[in-house]
Amino acid sequence: MGVYLDWNATTPPLPEVLDAMHDVAARAWGNPSSIHSAGRAARAAVEDARAAVGLLVDADPRDVLLTGGGTEANNIALRSAFPDVVAEPRWLLTSRLEHASVTRVAEALEREGRARVRWLRVEPSGVIDLADVERALAETRLAVALVTVQAVNHETGVLQPVREVVALARAAKARVHVDAVQAWGKVDTNAVADADTVSLAAHKIRGPKGIGVLVARAGTPLLPLVLGGPQEKGLRPGTGDAALAAGLGVAARRAIDGKVRYARIASRRDALETALLALLAGERQARRAGDTERRAPHVSLLVWPRWQGAELVAALDLEGVNVSSGAACSAGTVEPSPVLAAMFGNADAESGLRVSLGDDTTDADVEQALAAFTRVLTR
Ligand SMILES: Cc1ncc(COP(=O)(O)O)c(C=O)c1O
Repeated sequence: MGVYLDWNATTPPLPEVLDAMHDVAARAWGNPSSIHSAGRAARAAVEDARAAVGLLVDADPRDVLLTGGGTEANNIALRSAFPDVVAEPRWLLTSRLEHASVTRVAEALEREGRARVRWLRVEPSGVIDLADVERALAETRLAVALVTVQAVNHETGVLQPVREVVALARAAKARVHVDAVQAWGKVDTNAVADADTVSLAAHKIRGPKGIGVLVARAGTPLLPLVLGGPQEKGLRPGTGDAALAAGLGVAARRAIDGKVRYARIASRRDALETALLALLAGERQARRAGDTERRAPHVSLLVWPRWQGAELVAALDLEGVNVSSGAACSAGTVEPSPVLAAMFGNADAESGLRVSLGDDTTDADVEQALAAFTRVLTR
């Protein structure tokens, strides 16, 4: 196995997560809604997971809604704020820095005549422009139904001003959603707790894929995306998977002190980043992207205008190193990264390369990765 430096895409499940999932799948396989003993065993595993998430996100477990992942949590949060097609839709404030599970929904809500979207200005540092948030709230004269902001950007690792955005939205009586999928277990999340709704994905904190959470402050109206039974207060109908929930619960408990572990990774990220920038010295406009002062400790997004990020990803993969380019490759053509495009315009938006480390990344991994980068870049 080579070196995995794509922890923002997903994280390797912890051995204890896999053990818990295996145990619950074998022992507590009942339908969590059944009232007999088999059902109660499954239900206990689900509720134990909900309690663990409550501890991580500092919320009452009753406000923790289990979903099919971060994407679904974001979809429910956005759609619930714009339930109706109306003649004068209210505003949704967001930016192009957001994950596709936010931006695509915003576009759809506008197309459907439920919302008008005000795309917030983005600084070249990769932070949303707070003055523009204020301006947008003033311009739209209290007709803002929802402000949605991410806590940590998935490509740059840049921390967004969540506390300030929540305060501004509150003053304007708008609802606030925070996509904190990339934040849990990695950075301080105190400010996130003040939002109305917050999302989480288990697989970003070493849990399983296919399960996530929407934390919703009591009294926040929510709408299901699909209709069916009463599971998860009718917001996520369908028989739940207690094994997935058990994996989420173990991962959530471990993530509670995750930011302490992640803080220790910063020096490895910095060493790798410095060495890579030195390798590229002299290359036209090769640089790192995003505010280096307010950044998660494990991510580095480099822009190498001479390369397409997707080509580098493939070349490094052959050398045993897994990294990512924000630019998506579909049907053989490279689509520019929306995040880089929001920061700098389209010019270099295909040339980003994201390196994201995790709590198992060692100095030896960093050295091995650097040797592979050197082979590829000096070819
Ligand atoms: C910021 C952000 N939000 C949402 C998601 C979607 O989460 P999931 O993969 O669980 O659907 C991701 C995943 O990459 C993400 O990085």
